[in-house]
Amino acid sequence: MASVVIVGTQWGDEGKGKIVDLLTAQADVIVRFQGGNNAGHTIVFDGKKFILHLIPSGIFHQEKKCLIGNGVVIDPAVLLGEIENLEREGIPVPPGHLNISERAHLIMPYHKAIDHGREAKKGKTKIGTTGRGIGPCYEDKIARRGIKVGDLLDEELFRAKLSEILEEKNFYIEKYLGGEPLSFQEIFDSYRQMGERLAPYVTNVSVELEKARQQGAKILFEGAQGTQLDIDHGTYPFVTSSNTVAGGACHGAGVGPTTIDFVLGICKAYTTRVGGGPFPTELFDETGEYMRERGGEYGSTTGRPRRCGWLDGVVLKEAVRLNGLSALAITKLDVLTGLDPLKVCVAYELDGKQIENLPGSIRAVERLKPIYEELPGWQEDISKVEHFEDLPDNCRRYIRYIEEFAGIPIQIISVGPARNQTIILKNPF
Ligand code: GDP
Ligand code: IMO
Ligand code: MG
Repeated sequence: MASVVIVGTQWGDEGKGKIVDLLTAQADVIVRFQGGNNAGHTIVFDGKKFILHLIPSGIFHQEKKCLIGNGVVIDPAVLLGEIENLEREGIPVPPGHLNISERAHLIMPYHKAIDHGREAKKGKTKIGTTGRGIGPCYEDKIARRGIKVGDLLDEELFRAKLSEILEEKNFYIEKYLGGEPLSFQEIFDSYRQMGERLAPYVTNVSVELEKARQQGAKILFEGAQGTQLDIDHGTYPFVTSSNTVAGGACHGAGVGPTTIDFVLGICKAYTTRVGGGPFPTELFDETGEYMRERGGEYGSTTGRPRRCGWLDGVVLKEAVRLNGLSALAITKLDVLTGLDPLKVCVAYELDGKQIENLPGSIRAVERLKPIYEELPGWQEDISKVEHFEDLPDNCRRYIRYIEEFAGIPIQIISVGPARNQTIILKNPF
């Protein structure tokens, strides 16, 4: 396959970073197409662990091209910090190995101030955002008052846009949120300096992808967040502000739908969610605690404990439909060792009726009661298993059950955080 899109099937943190890093071995170009540094993608190899927020997870393969598409919102300080951190670890990130879209929108200091101010004002009803300014930045993009990477390189345009918008933002920050106004000069000077450092990385990502395609390159699109955090299809308003589904790869990178050959959904063997919002299979007991501790379920971006629960088959089926998934990669299967029986949610009960899709109304989603199917668990440590046949019988049964329920094959099985803790049944490339 020439173009493969990777997406999360749940509420994020499914292990996308690990799988992207792994499949980069067969790819030529790796591109992020939505989200920003709300993402935290973990990559583990040679006993080292890296967490990437903006840079594609293909960056550890020196000869590959990594791109940040127009659909991503970029905090330039975070991007430069990430480049510096990697270089300090001996991983060079020169232009050419990494390039960023001139059309991507910039996260500005007022976006972060507004994100924090709004969450504080909402109190108990807050979304539980990552506080990175993601929502306010996408708002400005859609309202046609955003500042793009390319605008930063044009001193006069940047000055004019910033001075116009800052007046409005400071009014809102001071009068509505009760915060401190931000200084034009400080933002202008620091952003211009960062713009100079980023200038050599700036490119037209859509054109780069077309050139690569014409040369027969294999392209890997790295989704961030997960299907249930999609702005249109997720558990709104407890979602992020971008389209996380596979279709987002097209407009967020500048390619047409006919160029996508394969969509791989990453599915954690159980479910986690970080931040607020409904989560039908959430566990508040020692089983949830077991998953959190064994799975190391603490946010890669904010360090918050992740909420844990059983695998939600309804959510998985939604992901198959909304992304047009070709196949699944199942991750963190090793975390389930020792739990018996295992449960999978196969439908919900809503006000006494059985339903098989997530309702559109958030109030209805909050009332859902999961209907479970039980499967036998296993006790063996599977973290060193290299072949499907060597997995315990009940583990294989769990995998086959999910496959059948989802209606698509499981092609990759992850049994630990490291590259080599993976059983690849079929490589999407
Ligand atoms: P992403 O946002 O989808 O890339 O996922 P995160 O990196 O935020 O969270 C996944 C976490 O699980 C990271 O700490 C990974 O190192 C870890 N991980 C990934 N796959 C596995 C696996 O198969 N088993 C275990 N035990 N950990 C895994
Ligand atoms: P990766 O790519 C898990 C969640 C936040 C919050 C909601 C909105 O690592 O899977 P935002 O800051 O985006 O406005 O927050 O979305 N969220 C994530 N949860 N993984 C992520 O990314 C997330 N990115 C955002 O916790 O509930
Ligand atoms: Mg993550």
